[in-house]
Amino acid sequence: MTALTLSTAAAPGLRADAIVIGVAKGAQGPAVAPGAEAVDKAYDGKLAGILETLGASGAEGELTKLPAPAGFKAPLVVAVGLGPAPDAGDEDAGFDAEALRKAAGLAARALTGARKAAFALPVDGPGAIGAIGEGILLGAYAFDAYKGNGQEATNAKAKNGKAPLAEAALLGGKPRDAAHKGAVARAVAVCEELNRARDLINMPPNDLTPAVFAGIAQAAAKEHGIKVQVLDDKALVKGGYGGILGVGGGSAATPRLVKLSYKHPKAAKHLAFVGKGITYDSGGISLKPAGHNETMKCDMSGAAAVFAAVVAAARLGLEVSVTGWLALAENMPSGSAVRPGDVLRMYSGKTVEVLNTDAEGRLVLADALWAASQENPDAIVDVATLTGAMMLALGSRTFGVMANDDAFRSAVHEAAEEVGEPAWPMPLPEHLRKGMDSTVADLANMGERMGGGLVAGLFLREFVGDGITWAHLDIAGPAFNEGGPFGYTPKGGTGSAVRTLVRLAELTAAGDLG
Ligand code: BES
Ligand code: MN
Ligand code: ZN
Repeated sequence: MTALTLSTAAAPGLRADAIVIGVAKGAQGPAVAPGAEAVDKAYDGKLAGILETLGASGAEGELTKLPAPAGFKAPLVVAVGLGPAPDAGDEDAGFDAEALRKAAGLAARALTGARKAAFALPVDGPGAIGAIGEGILLGAYAFDAYKGNGQEATNAKAKNGKAPLAEAALLGGKPRDAAHKGAVARAVAVCEELNRARDLINMPPNDLTPAVFAGIAQAAAKEHGIKVQVLDDKALVKGGYGGILGVGGGSAATPRLVKLSYKHPKAAKHLAFVGKGITYDSGGISLKPAGHNETMKCDMSGAAAVFAAVVAAARLGLEVSVTGWLALAENMPSGSAVRPGDVLRMYSGKTVEVLNTDAEGRLVLADALWAASQENPDAIVDVATLTGAMMLALGSRTFGVMANDDAFRSAVHEAAEEVGEPAWPMPLPEHLRKGMDSTVADLANMGERMGGGLVAGLFLREFVGDGITWAHLDIAGPAFNEGGPFGYTPKGGTGSAVRTLVRLAELTAAGDLG
């Protein structure tokens, strides 16, 4: 990952490949954002005009490259749009954190192949430092583990010609200020884990089996002082985890349930995170048609997010207990696969008639939710690429938030928006429950087609212990970016929900949630 440092150096003397500055969208055209004063001065104060001549307006997503002014050690200036400048009448108003994150990410991505860049973006405190840091670390991400071949493939440069930006110096911060240093440390811990979640999502499903994922989680847990317990297929049989076993039964790669327990000695609250970890979703016997299965390696994104968030919480030493549950299985058709018509006895004791083997996520989550409930945590949050219906409802960048408690749903939604993850509250309409009535079992794994995302949420609710506050994040849309990269979001695995979960852990530690 890109090395991130705070620097008090002045832009002109900086030895770097580029200096990144911000451009705001002003009423009279582009305006050079605070932080770039020295750069503007070296252009004789004419930088805004130069940028306008080059077609820049200061809009978000805009990037303009220009030669650095005479006397600068760095050869290149990269100007990124920040959108409208904050209200001039309000002294406290800084640039929006998400605008800084996106601009820094865009610049970091454009600087692929560069060794070092200096970021002279508007910094008005630790919040801006953290946002710019996150934007850089997330925007510079590349998945190149499978590019190139042979010996040189260990050298990132040999893989696709260009390595990610190696070093970023953040100007305008105070290297000796505890809050500024803390903001950098937080960004590094969160983004390192988030980028690892992206790696897991991008890893091809022939390599990332449930057992391999469990092994990676075990190793990371050990490294960060997290207690870990892995139930393999034999242990799952012994424990009666019918949902996970049913889904995993069709694959030669056997399922796992991983429990990660992070406990701060002074923790007053306990959060449980539950992740859907289908390492590949073929649909099973209800096989997905071609065109619907090429990206289904991403179906473990929920488990990857939970894994990353628990490790990040441990690295940050948050004063809270966080238990992560990874429900890992591969959904494949075979002679031993669960059939439409089969009845599974779930870990909770309830029976489920499987009407569609492609509605597998709710089956593995049901067992993990019930397992999480046995510890009676203060709240449970599950994360899953659960339904195509949620994508139809909210598009590919926004996740849906459902809950059995309105205040908690609002709190989760707010936390998501705060960290720059678009989310939206969705209801759990009671009338949709009866669509899952089964003639042979306690319920079926399918209901009405309309409102399919909400039906899935209602199914999950059946497996949450009585009286436990619970929220469900359906990240089917934002988990995997099939389009081109934007802001700090790369193509492929995005690491959706990691930052929301970390924020929830922080809020809980501070006593500001539930
Ligand atoms: N993993 C899919 C949902 C999904 C679709 C995630 C597209 C990401 C992108 C899930 O297991 C699934 O197949 N859901 C079905 C449920 C249906 C059979 C009730 C769906 O949404 O079609
Ligand atoms: Mn499916
Ligand atoms: Zn699935």
